[in-house]
Amino acid sequence: MPKLPMGSSKYYMAPYPILCVLLLLLPFTTIVHAQSGLSSNFYYTSCPNFETIVESNVSNVVSSDPRMGASLLRLHFHDCFVGGCDASVLLDVEGGEKESVHNVNSLRGFGVIDSIKQEVEDACPGVVSCADIVALVARDSVVALGGPSWDVEFGRRDSNTRPSSSEADENLPFGFNDVPDLISLFSSKGFSVRELVALSGSHTIGQARCVRFRNRAYNEENIAPDFQEFLQEICPRNSGDNNLGPLDVRSPTAFNNEYYVGLTNFEGLLHSDQVLFTGNNPSQTDNIVRRYANNERIFFKDFSAAMLKMSRLGVLTGDSGTIRSNCRVLG
Ligand code: HEM
Ligand SMILES: *[C@@H]1O[C@H](CO)[C@@H](O)[C@H](O)[C@H]1NC(C)=O
Repeated sequence: MPKLPMGSSKYYMAPYPILCVLLLLLPFTTIVHAQSGLSSNFYYTSCPNFETIVESNVSNVVSSDPRMGASLLRLHFHDCFVGGCDASVLLDVEGGEKESVHNVNSLRGFGVIDSIKQEVEDACPGVVSCADIVALVARDSVVALGGPSWDVEFGRRDSNTRPSSSEADENLPFGFNDVPDLISLFSSKGFSVRELVALSGSHTIGQARCVRFRNRAYNEENIAPDFQEFLQEICPRNSGDNNLGPLDVRSPTAFNNEYYVGLTNFEGLLHSDQVLFTGNNPSQTDNIVRRYANNERIFFKDFSAAMLKMSRLGVLTGDSGTIRSNCRVLG
């Protein structure tokens, strides 16, 4: 076979000045996610300091109260799963999402969002939605606790309709759920089993109340004896409903893959955590848990992709919805 002559480039090189102009224009080109209508440079000209403000505020808050990073991540989840990522969870409305059984006495971080919104309003009045703030704050919280980063997309608008607590009741998972219920809820939002397991890795940070793990502390068998004893100390049989236990006992304030290592040792705090690993080889989720426990890099990659996907759920864009000036108030 005759060889092709080497060295004669077949590729056209754009003249240097044209290349320069193209490079200069690059930041102004908008890369819009085809289906959601969101883009990562949405505020590039309208609020250039948005990402810097949020990053520095979140890193300050999280370094003085590491658990707040977990609470802020959860806020985005509870926003997106209930009627889409539209900041409806932030509204102070009678009968709203805050009153749902999943949120009452449980969801936190609203004051942090208010103060960040204030900083952002001071810099760019009336431009940035509360829903976009929640999405970015979630990413920066994960990063502040040592987790992976991903490019957050923007352009969400805030809901201007009354939220309902029953919608939140129905669209969020319970800590007593078994795998089939978890799979069916997450699949109703478009997530695979693997994405369910990756997103559950959020429980590598944060705390749960005794009332949510008491049954596991006293009545379950698939639990390490030392860990069970530890939970019984935190969570008495007949009192202490609001006492807190760590979702990842190995490293409660570090975003890493230790949550999965804990599951393989039967140290899951919630029933819904431990059922992802039964120790029974053929189980669909067991192998995914093992894989993440053995390889943090793969967990981080899958988690980032699943978060990006979650942050596109049911978003309002264009002329839909509104930009609230106070995240708690409709209009
Ligand atoms: C897979 C189904 C899930 C169930 C059943 C579940 C359930 C729970 C429960 C019961 C708590 C404790 C609440 C309390 O005691 O007040 C909790 C906390 C938490 N959840 Fe989940 N969750 C799930 C998925 C997720 C996802 C997908 C995320 C984030 C993307 C997430 C993030 C968190 C965080 C960070 C905390 C700790 C919050 C804090 O310390 O303030 N969870 N979850
Ligand atoms: C929030 O960020 C802004 C801009 O970087 C800064 O001026 C402000 O002090 C920060 N506030 C907190 C509480 O970190």
